[in-house]
Amino acid sequence: MVPLVTGEEPLPQLFTRAGCPVCHTIPGIPGAEGRVGPTLALGATGPTRLADPRYRGRAKSVHEYVIESILNPGVYVVPGYPDRTMPPWYGQKLSAAALDKIALYLESLGSQPSPARR
Ligand code: HEC
Repeated sequence: MVPLVTGEEPLPQLFTRAGCPVCHTIPGIPGAEGRVGPTLALGATGPTRLADPRYRGRAKSVHEYVIESILNPGVYVVPGYPDRTMPPWYGQKLSAAALDKIALYLESLGSQPSPARR
């Protein structure tokens, strides 16, 4: 596989290269103001997803939910947003280290001001 990112990149570059900002607003990431999908502040929204009776995935934590949402977007479609829109191929394009770094960042984003960029 030819990964889009290795996980070594600084976060803004990692998200930009992976293309997430095209569709998502990501607090703390310059230029990430997409509106096709939900704002990625999973520290705030993640627990709500896991508690939704319609949620049928396997994640037991917000961290797992973020990774599941990236690898398998169809498992749970956020109400009000389109299905089959988020690309299904990220599992082939993102290294495990990149996935983990993305999940750690997104789960840290709550309703408070975004944390310092790493
Ligand atoms: C072409 C548009 C598009 C791109 C590119 C895209 N997404 Fe999404 N994403 C969506 C849409 C639409 C949804 C909501 C529907 C669903 O749940 O599948 C979504 C849902 C999500 C969710 C669940 C959000 C929640 O609030 O529960 C996460 C996490 C996520 N995306 C992360 C990412 C990451 C990380 C990237 C880049 C690696 C990315 N997405 C790239 C369109 C996109």
